[in-house]
Amino acid sequence: MDPTEEMKAQIALWNKELKEKNPIGVIAFFLQYFGEEIVLSTSLGLEDQVLTEMVMRQRRSTEVFTLDTGRLFPETYDLIARTNKQYGIRMKTYFPEPARVEEMVANHGINLFYDNVENRKMCCGIRKVAQLPRAFHGKKAWICGLRKDQSVSRFFSKMVEWDENNELVKVNPLINWTEKEVWAYIKVHNIPYNVLHDNGFPSIGCEPCTRAIEPGEDIRSGRWWWENEAHKECGLHKR
Ligand code: ADX
Ligand code: SF4
Repeated sequence: MDPTEEMKAQIALWNKELKEKNPIGVIAFFLQYFGEEIVLSTSLGLEDQVLTEMVMRQRRSTEVFTLDTGRLFPETYDLIARTNKQYGIRMKTYFPEPARVEEMVANHGINLFYDNVENRKMCCGIRKVAQLPRAFHGKKAWICGLRKDQSVSRFFSKMVEWDENNELVKVNPLINWTEKEVWAYIKVHNIPYNVLHDNGFPSIGCEPCTRAIEPGEDIRSGRWWWENEAHKECGLHKR
């Protein structure tokens, strides 16, 4: 069997075997299995803050990275600093390639994302997705904070998946958690979180592409709010 097919078979097995494990147990298993070849990707969202705590308490040397698009909220930069301080780390920050951003802005304008979906995807592509190969260099697996009830497109995600785009194992330890469980964990463990969450922002991305929502609205409805549901992914989790 070729190695990718072998890994896919292994993933199917893991999904069965790890079904009953809690997120800390799942993380412990994969930290052990992949050693330093696993990386945690964080957008500093609530789920990622939970994962950072769970990973750091088990192995402080695990690499944590964030993709800094250059358009984040000031509150998010503040949270990067507070998180680093709390766990005694310096998470790795990847910036987009300046020449590509300059060219994009010269050709399409600084706020091109509002004009059409193609422009929006181009911006997410250049500012985020294009940096993944650097973040994943030398890695075999990544941990991220997807949850099934975040959106319809995530409902079919599994605890462990094969990420075709990056050719890596993708581990979603919080896949079955509810928003309530995430908040409970944050409070119990005194985990730093983005102050915007207390002001109507349940899901936070770049500043121009995120707005506050009203109580009762879908948690991702403040992300790329001018687009229809089907397009609302930035390309990091393309299926
Ligand atoms: S997005 O596709 O809408 O932007 P979301 O904000 O829900 O994604 O985050 C889902 C997961 O993708 C996060 O838990 C994190 O692992 C990863 N992720 C999203 N944005 C970033 C980022 N800027 N840097 C690193 N990881 C990110
Ligand atoms: Fe660009 Fe908006 Fe995507 Fe951020 S979320 S990379 S500003 S289109």
